[in-house]
Amino acid sequence: MKKAEMVVAGVMSGTSADGINVALVMIRAASPKNARSGYPFPLAGGGGLERPPHTFELIGHAEYSYPAKIRAAILAAMNADRARVADLARLNVLLGELYAGAVLTTQRRFRRNAELVGCHGQTLYHQGEPQYFLGHRIATTWQTGEAAIIAARTGVPVVSDFRPADMAAGGKGAPLVPFLDFLLFHDKQVGRIVQNIGGIANLTAIPACAAADDVNAFDTGPGNMVIDALAEQLFGKPFDRGGKIAASGNVLESVVQRALSQNFFSAKPPKTAGREEFGREFASSFLRSCGRSRKEDVIATATALTAVSIADAVQRFVIHRGRGSRRTSWEMIVSGGGTRNATLMRMLAEALAPINVPLGTSDDLGLPSEAKEAAAFAVLAYETWHRRPSNVPSATGAKRPAILGKISYP
Ligand SMILES: Nc1ncnc2c1ncn2[C@@H]1O[C@H](COP(=O)(O)OP(=O)(O)O)[C@@H](O)[C@H]1O
Ligand SMILES: [Mg+2]
Repeated sequence: MKKAEMVVAGVMSGTSADGINVALVMIRAASPKNARSGYPFPLAGGGGLERPPHTFELIGHAEYSYPAKIRAAILAAMNADRARVADLARLNVLLGELYAGAVLTTQRRFRRNAELVGCHGQTLYHQGEPQYFLGHRIATTWQTGEAAIIAARTGVPVVSDFRPADMAAGGKGAPLVPFLDFLLFHDKQVGRIVQNIGGIANLTAIPACAAADDVNAFDTGPGNMVIDALAEQLFGKPFDRGGKIAASGNVLESVVQRALSQNFFSAKPPKTAGREEFGREFASSFLRSCGRSRKEDVIATATALTAVSIADAVQRFVIHRGRGSRRTSWEMIVSGGGTRNATLMRMLAEALAPINVPLGTSDDLGLPSEAKEAAAFAVLAYETWHRRPSNVPSATGAKRPAILGKISYP
């Protein structure tokens, strides 16, 4: 049934493979009466996003870490040379059970039941650019976590597998969160750079007064992925909690500059990255380029690479882009697990200072930064349920708007 008001659970598990985020979101179609409550979504036209405003309210958010064994199995599954087909098939079902459990626990915790679930799934492989395969040019993406299981356990329909429809329309299948970024954060006075720092770091740039098709979005490079890999390898820790290790080290500037000279950073957007670009192999060669430096210096340098590559992308591809945009002022709104790394946030603020971009978090604007991506998949599911497109073609490179995802019924 199509309803104007719905509680939707968004479920996200990102490339860090750290765990599952669930956001319970109340979404209301606009009417003059409720247009003033919650977060208003006044929408500019264009780009397939033309429609009446909604209101959006976060009921609650919860985070569930993957048990160590499951995280190890997921990371192994992402390793194309070693993954076994039987294990991939089993992991799909196991993750479906875990996602369903996460939704049910979150519903009990906030005493609200979802009427619809939007589940991103765990990306095992993403290749946004077409490459030759058996004589055909193919782009592909693969998110796992069986939606039929989630639908069966929760008793409500589940939208999953959001990315392929955008790719079938000629897009890279990513990023998809710009849809929510635009709805929540576009502003008349100031340009906004909505920066997520997960395993990979990605930004959505929304010029002041923009229509949806002015939105520019792309991956800026590593987020926490390289820091995490090196923290594991050098300190036996899954990540650098609070950025404490990085704070006790010195940045090796020449290593940062050498890493930045890689093609990925100078390539023009739209562009996407994943473990294929910044996974184990990248971390190993980064470690080698640090020579015999202290372990703390290596972590500080990896942290600086994330901060400097973000500021560099902002300068190259946001501020110096497009008509007259040089004169607009910009601010950055950060979300994702990286906001909890104080050293990374300090380095990012320092890297942005010379280009006059102040830094805030999505928490400052009322949306907990670790809930944002999960909330985005609730909103995308709501759009799909109402048979409306929700890719942002200017962000993914798609030739047309596309209705995203597949629906599993309980
Ligand atoms: N307290 C913390 N201190 C430092 N880093 C943290 C902290 N909490 C989370 N992180 C970082 O955030 C990452 C997870 O961020 P998340 O936004 O969930 O990424 P993804 O979307 O890739 O799963 C962790 O792998 C870790 O690097
Ligand atoms: Mg995560």
